[in-house]
Amino acid sequence: MIRSVVRGVGSALPRRIMKNSEFEAALDTSDEWIVQRTGIRQRHIAAADETTASLGEAAARAALADGGLTPADIDLIVLATSTPNNTFPATAVEIQQRLGMRHGFAFDLQAVCSGFVFAVATADGHIRNGLAKRALVIGSETFSRILDWSDRTTCVLFGDGAGAMVLEAHEGEGSVADRGVLAASLRSDGTHKEKLYVDGGPSTTKTVGHLRMEGREVFKHAAGMITDVVEGTFAQAGISAEDLTWFVPHQANKRIIDASAKKLGIADEKVVVTVDLHGNTSAASVPLALDVAVKDGRIRKGDLVMLEAMGGGFTWGAVLIRW
Ligand code: ACO
Repeated sequence: MIRSVVRGVGSALPRRIMKNSEFEAALDTSDEWIVQRTGIRQRHIAAADETTASLGEAAARAALADGGLTPADIDLIVLATSTPNNTFPATAVEIQQRLGMRHGFAFDLQAVCSGFVFAVATADGHIRNGLAKRALVIGSETFSRILDWSDRTTCVLFGDGAGAMVLEAHEGEGSVADRGVLAASLRSDGTHKEKLYVDGGPSTTKTVGHLRMEGREVFKHAAGMITDVVEGTFAQAGISAEDLTWFVPHQANKRIIDASAKKLGIADEKVVVTVDLHGNTSAASVPLALDVAVKDGRIRKGDLVMLEAMGGGFTWGAVLIRW
């Protein structure tokens, strides 16, 4: 059977780093509160010339270089984002143009913080059914553009950045020993819409809007939803938490990451954490964390890696990959 094997990963971050202490002048908050409640110490903030398309392009080029590939080798781009450059066309198509590609197809996928996990599963489907041979899967966000910078309950939590992965069709045996995407579990439930949303859009207010979140409500649901899809993915693959080499969760809050890993019985040493460096970069958070753990030598060929995320909608999902 065809498997989608990871050929390369890459990432890109805006030049400017914003430390927690920089909020203290304008808002009633502190570095201590932010670190204690979230684990976040800093985030990158995009300048005017750094956009979802430019960061996505840079991450894509880094992933291509990592895999020893060029844009000519790619026939599909799936971009997970909630902060596109324009309402349309898809920012994925702009990245395709920036990469100099006039072949293949590209589209955006919108599942907020779960976007990258949904995009990996979607690209895997297209590869397995023969629509594509090599896919660039990108998560790129500029959440700083949709934050209400006067709202301390949300603006301290998010950052900008991009991460990318190249998936390539390979013949596998159909067993859990294969390299590539092995199993996935995706969910959504729109009854939670009001807990985490943007209060604008082309068809309603005709504006871009700002992010609104009932943080405590999101927190309450997060660990349960994450364990639901991770356990579903374990069951599909016929493995358990002990078999996992690395757990790469969505980087929203260190407390949610810790609670989920504990509930799943995953040891702390197997958990990749970058929320301290990047904040919550929504769809970019998982590929940014992956790139850090691949480049520092933690994730290696043959490792069993579980990606998971939960976000606005709510949406939630998990993907198991043998590296
Ligand atoms: N600085 C200081 N105080 C603050 C701040 C701040 N930045 N923000 C809130 N507070 C105050 C609140 O006003 C509240 O004060 P009160 O008790 O006087 O009302 C107090 O701190 C406690 O607030 P809580 O909301 O109960 O704090 P909590 O411990 O729940 O932490 C947080 C808040 C960090 C937002 C947490 O709820 C959380 O992480 N939620 C989940 C967010 C998340 O994971 N989102 C993921 C999906 S994101 C996506 O899909 C785009």
